[in-house]
Amino acid sequence: MGTMLFQILYLVGYFFTNTFQMTKQITSLEDYQSTYKYSIENPENFWEEQANTFNWFKPFDKILEWNFEEPEIKWFVNGKLNITYNCLDRHIEVKGNQVAILWEPNNPNENVKKYTFKTLLSEVNKCANALKAKGITKGDRVIFYMPMVPELAIGVLACARIGAIHSVVFAGFSARALADRVDDAQAKMIVCSDYNNRGNKCIQVKQVVDDAMDLSCNSIETVLVHQNTGGEVNWSDDCDVWWHDLVDNQSDVCEPEWMDSEDMLFILYTSGSTGKPKGVVHTCGGYMVYTCYSFKNVFQYKEGDVYWCTADIGWITGHSYIVYGPLLAGATTMMFEGVPTYPDAGRFWSICEKHKVNQFYTAPTAIRALMAKGDEWPQKYDLSSIKVLGSVGEPINVEAWEWYDKHIGKGKAPIVDTWWQTETGGILITPLPGITDTKPTFASYPMPGVQPVLVDTEGNEKIGNGIEGLLCIKFPWPSMLRTTYGDHDRCCQTYFSPFKGYYFTGDGAKRDEEGRIRIIGRVDDVINVSGHRIGTAEVENAINAHPEVIESAVVGFPHEIKGQGIYAYVIVDGNINSNDEFISEVLKVVVKEIGPIAKPDEIQIVSGLPKTRSGKIMRRILRKIASKDISNLGDISTLLNPEVVDEIIEQAGLKA
Ligand code: WTA
Repeated sequence: MGTMLFQILYLVGYFFTNTFQMTKQITSLEDYQSTYKYSIENPENFWEEQANTFNWFKPFDKILEWNFEEPEIKWFVNGKLNITYNCLDRHIEVKGNQVAILWEPNNPNENVKKYTFKTLLSEVNKCANALKAKGITKGDRVIFYMPMVPELAIGVLACARIGAIHSVVFAGFSARALADRVDDAQAKMIVCSDYNNRGNKCIQVKQVVDDAMDLSCNSIETVLVHQNTGGEVNWSDDCDVWWHDLVDNQSDVCEPEWMDSEDMLFILYTSGSTGKPKGVVHTCGGYMVYTCYSFKNVFQYKEGDVYWCTADIGWITGHSYIVYGPLLAGATTMMFEGVPTYPDAGRFWSICEKHKVNQFYTAPTAIRALMAKGDEWPQKYDLSSIKVLGSVGEPINVEAWEWYDKHIGKGKAPIVDTWWQTETGGILITPLPGITDTKPTFASYPMPGVQPVLVDTEGNEKIGNGIEGLLCIKFPWPSMLRTTYGDHDRCCQTYFSPFKGYYFTGDGAKRDEEGRIRIIGRVDDVINVSGHRIGTAEVENAINAHPEVIESAVVGFPHEIKGQGIYAYVIVDGNINSNDEFISEVLKVVVKEIGPIAKPDEIQIVSGLPKTRSGKIMRRILRKIASKDISNLGDISTLLNPEVVDEIIEQAGLKA
């Protein structure tokens, strides 16, 4: 009882001290420049001030402890908080009836759903109590495999409410990919839907979970199934539970679990240059402070605005800028269930008109795809509410940037080309709309508190402007990854060992004469297909699972809509009946092992792969051939098998 009274007093005290403080918003270029300078000279003071705008159950007693060798990074040391308290409870008094989540269904004729901060809190609490009823406690892992329905956001927040660690798996991944993630996380529960409406397709979601359970998933005790469309599903009484049976009649009160700043909030799997996807780990305190700060500043969100990010919550963009960032900032955030081209190519713009969207955040691949459908689509709609346009996930080409600016922003909505990664947790390099200038294809300037540098291959910092190098960050920021789940050494090897004393991003970048940064793209074996990160090694492993495949090499090549396409060179064992049949079998294997997003666009059957004398595949050459550019192949005479290069070029139809 004593502790409870103490808790209440604490909360009341904090509530009052924090009611009128909000995360700071930069308002002018001078403000950005002085804030940036201050944040670099006094990073701890700067982040302490931001952190103090949140409700802490127990204040932190140190701001930062770090080293990039092990690495070990701790922000807001010994602070106690709950991120959902800051997303929901603390907004109740002032804006309890404001819409927090606005949900637009796949079918435009179905009803929109609105959750106010008050109703969202009730739903989150009910779900949190349901998780508890199924034995989920602090530290347990819960996997989400769901379409873009409100229950996904509710479920994720319910985990955070009770200190369970969520790991959302994009619902386009295959049963095998899902099972791998469940096993790696040793999750106790999967939350899924029965089916998923996407455009005019209906996708069997529960069936994929069943298939994953047949493959492995031995740690799973419960599968919580949300009835989304209705329809027959296979049912296992041992572990399956309907959401409406378990969640709906729970109490809507659930005390938040007070988490340490450095307790895990979530794991999100992402591709790297080696085979297995890694579980990027984010923790509670720093992630909270950074996602809110960056959301407010990058989108210049104002009270009453309607903000829409079209990403899927299965990716980091959805975590940070559909769920956490906007809710922390008390914003109205929209979730869209469908696809940009259903029922027609005007859907995005019709939604912008319908909900008077003020900030619109999407990926270049969507812009390119819609641009190809013609200017008449956006012209049909009133887009005058749009104040800020965002781009994320891959480099945006000049044509797409200009079309976005002209046809969507009508030349008056600044485009924020935001560069960041699953690992960075939040946007690190971006223009600030109406504050810093914008230049097509440039992510431009670092956020306050972010110290990007370009290094050469030896790890020496390249100073000055008008240079190119490998993008590293030399000082911690609050939302950076802390480890890769279950394998800290891998985190160290991937991000901190390449260049001592720096976090290495895997991207190459340029700095123009005025100091703006332009991201060139990955310098490792990761490709970016329609804004989705795919490891070439992952695709190779999938292809190699075909019994007739001896070896394969996968590279990216420029693709008009997707940004990059996937090109696979495959060596086949013996004779296959027909190339077409074989190729369609290979595609099926990739879909089975990973999912449709990893399907190669081109498959070339070859007799050998160009290799160095030490047996390393010369991907550089394969990339050039895939790009149909065979000028400057370099010296190939030192290869183990130079003749194979000519053969591949000829087969690809590139020789006159
Ligand atoms: C790429 C997505 C150019 C980059 C948030 C990075 C970008 C990878 C941009 C991370 C951008 C992201 N311009 N490239 N504005 N944003 N990238 O983890 O190569 O899915 O390393 O996070 O996407 O992809 P991830």
